[in-house]
Amino acid sequence: MSRKKRFNPEGKGFSTQALHTGVTIGGERDNSIPIHLTSSYAFDDAEYARAVFAEEVEGNIYSRFTNPSVTAFEKRLAALEGAEHALATSSGMAAISAVFLSLLSAGDHLVISRSVFGSTLNVADILKRYGIEVTPVELSNLNAWKEAIRPNTKLLFAETPANPTLELGDLSALAEIAHDAGARLCVDNVFCTPVLQQPLALGADLVIQSATKYIDGQGRVLGGAILGNKALLTGTIFPFLRNTGPTLSAFNAWVLFKGMETLPLRIEKQCDTTAFIVEALARNETIRDRLRYPGLDTHPQHQLASQQMNRFGALFCLILDGKEQAHRFIDSLELAIVTANLGDVRTLVTHPATTTHSRLTQQQRHDAGVTDGLVRFSIGLEDQEDILEDVEQALKAAGVT
Ligand SMILES: Cc1ncc(COP(=O)(O)O)c(C=O)c1O
Repeated sequence: MSRKKRFNPEGKGFSTQALHTGVTIGGERDNSIPIHLTSSYAFDDAEYARAVFAEEVEGNIYSRFTNPSVTAFEKRLAALEGAEHALATSSGMAAISAVFLSLLSAGDHLVISRSVFGSTLNVADILKRYGIEVTPVELSNLNAWKEAIRPNTKLLFAETPANPTLELGDLSALAEIAHDAGARLCVDNVFCTPVLQQPLALGADLVIQSATKYIDGQGRVLGGAILGNKALLTGTIFPFLRNTGPTLSAFNAWVLFKGMETLPLRIEKQCDTTAFIVEALARNETIRDRLRYPGLDTHPQHQLASQQMNRFGALFCLILDGKEQAHRFIDSLELAIVTANLGDVRTLVTHPATTTHSRLTQQQRHDAGVTDGLVRFSIGLEDQEDILEDVEQALKAAGVT
């Protein structure tokens, strides 16, 4: 009996790729891909095992190396990021650490934005113990990046918009600076996801994702990925991952694979709601100056955001008067959940200075723009009026308005 040819989503629209890439129909004809919960794979015989190990034939060996559920996740995310290849990791931090440790050696130099997720700066500090030189620079100051370049600079690392300040870096310009120096640019694309920004198309060499955030979208599992050129990923980064073992579990891969199916829809709606809330809050003059959001024309890189991002994102910050007021405000919120995560379908609120960025030194926090009064919102899918009402009543209760 002839079988209907499977639909090939390559080259189709973003949502079509998010829904159809990576789907394989197995022996049981499951329409939702199965979760391959296995640590190793059985070989037909010893000779076949030898041939797979020798890479003479392609096949799964051990789930620290490859797993069909993880491969499906990698294929789908690569399609969305416009990447030739993707490698999954157990978390976003595993992805970042793997990029640093597999591309940098003692004597090499890393230039890193000083406005990145707290743990990323902590890992950069750890690199110094291994003889890797690290220079933190101001994300939006291109001259600072240029001046930081040394003959041994191998990697530039930026996160844009930055967590939590929402400062932007010019990705095309950063890629040019990196390439002129014979170095690579790696971009943390967590705040945007490929729905809002595709750094590889702007010249970046590598992208990292914390799939824990918007890609899951429902705060269930941790995961991460490194995306980019196939030769670099398979030749240099994969051997590091395969041996060190920060492996994405098959179950998490499956959750994240399914998460991508609703990613475009979620992000669009979350962006709409965030714009609605910020615009409503900005009508109050006293609050307008306290808002940080790339969509506001008061944002220093509003112009760049309009060019570089498809939408302005689903995060915004309020700058309150110090820690006491920030905590009072957060404790007055009823709908928003106080947590250290972001990218959930439910609205989340974070006080970075005492949580996600608390392990940085005061100077590092100052340099990163993480003031004691900064409160970060990750807007969810609740009714926009309900979120706005919650923020407004908490502002009153905390004595801000
Ligand atoms: C911008 C950014 N990058 C990386 C990470 C690390 O991701 P994970 O928690 O999956 O390790 C986070 C986590 O909050 C983040 O916000």
